[in-house]
Amino acid sequence: MILVTGGAGYIGSHTVLQLRERGAEVLVLDDLSEGHRDALLGADLVEGSTMDRAFLERVFAEHSIDAVCHFAARCYVGESVRDPGQYYRNNVVGTLNLLEACVAAGVTRFVFSSTCATYGEPPAVPIVETMPQAPINPYGETKLVCERMLRDLQRAHGLHSVSLRYFNAAGADPEGRIGEDHDPETHLIPLVLGAATGRRPALTVFGDDYPTPDGSCIRDYVHVTDLAEAHVLALEAMAGGLTGARAFNLGSEAGNSVLEVIRAAEQVTGRSVPYSVGPRRAGDPPVLVGSPAKITAELGWRPRFADIHAVLETAWRWHRDRPDGFVA
Ligand SMILES: NC(=O)c1ccc[n+]([C@@H]2O[C@H](COP(=O)([O-])OP(=O)(O)OC[C@H]3O[C@@H](n4cnc5c(N)ncnc54)[C@H](O)[C@@H]3O)[C@@H](O)[C@H]2O)c1
Repeated sequence: MILVTGGAGYIGSHTVLQLRERGAEVLVLDDLSEGHRDALLGADLVEGSTMDRAFLERVFAEHSIDAVCHFAARCYVGESVRDPGQYYRNNVVGTLNLLEACVAAGVTRFVFSSTCATYGEPPAVPIVETMPQAPINPYGETKLVCERMLRDLQRAHGLHSVSLRYFNAAGADPEGRIGEDHDPETHLIPLVLGAATGRRPALTVFGDDYPTPDGSCIRDYVHVTDLAEAHVLALEAMAGGLTGARAFNLGSEAGNSVLEVIRAAEQVTGRSVPYSVGPRRAGDPPVLVGSPAKITAELGWRPRFADIHAVLETAWRWHRDRPDGFVA
């Protein structure tokens, strides 16, 4: 059985769906602080927090867990600057509790949701895994601490892990069953689509004077189904003998600027996206794209939704058909 923490959240629920479709037995652990019961599509849930050690001990005692995918975290950069303690408690202490529960229960395979935010402002793009990790906000720091804990626990206790450093997760289940539903929403694509439908205010583009072809920031949008697929590959590789505390970028190397995303959204939706240009945001590098070369070579991962239009089509289907998101 695979334990998926944060499996009621955006990326976790898409991974749960894919694991179940491939016949895996899955147990979701989620405190539903951000996630949605409806996103589980009937998967088994134990409701509780990684910060509750006694609860974790019970979960591991009552279920036969072979591997863990750990998505549960708080993940708002701005909130992490205002309230770092909450981030260190939830993301670091919560992860340590989970890792210790794994060691106590003899679990040796662990997949961790890391982030490109661990690189901070990279010296060059595309980012490769050997570049220095120097986060510029508490959110990124908490994820880097978790990667280091994984390295140390592997040496001490033989808990093998794969840390997947996601770039910008985007899109929705191509069949429209689940999608992105965050509150507050900070991700560009739902904000763009919300502006197109008039359900959200006109978009603010933070700066159009960056050293990029159209002046707006470039990011690497990776489809959530492709991210989910990488978890399946990581679990399979570890079951097949991959050892150590490994880390891989989950980027596509193909960045899109904010203005390109707006234009593509207008084509996909057939509506105009109202926006205005505001000042730059502190800490926003002009270009953040990740090289997938390492994970392609070692795990055979390739993004299937390589084009931003394809990503947007799945997101649009979800937002158009489910404008209020999940009910529960
Ligand atoms: N969305 C992105 O673009 C992105 C990029 C890089 C990394 N990540 C990482 O991927 C993971 C998933 O991101 P997401 O966008 O799906 O976030 P999300 O908020 O949609 O999902 C997180 C889930 O974890 C649950 N949760 C939070 N704290 C918990 C705790 N202590 N115990 C139990 N459950 C808890 C929430 O209820 C939610 O269901 C996070 O670890 C995030 O840091 C996301």
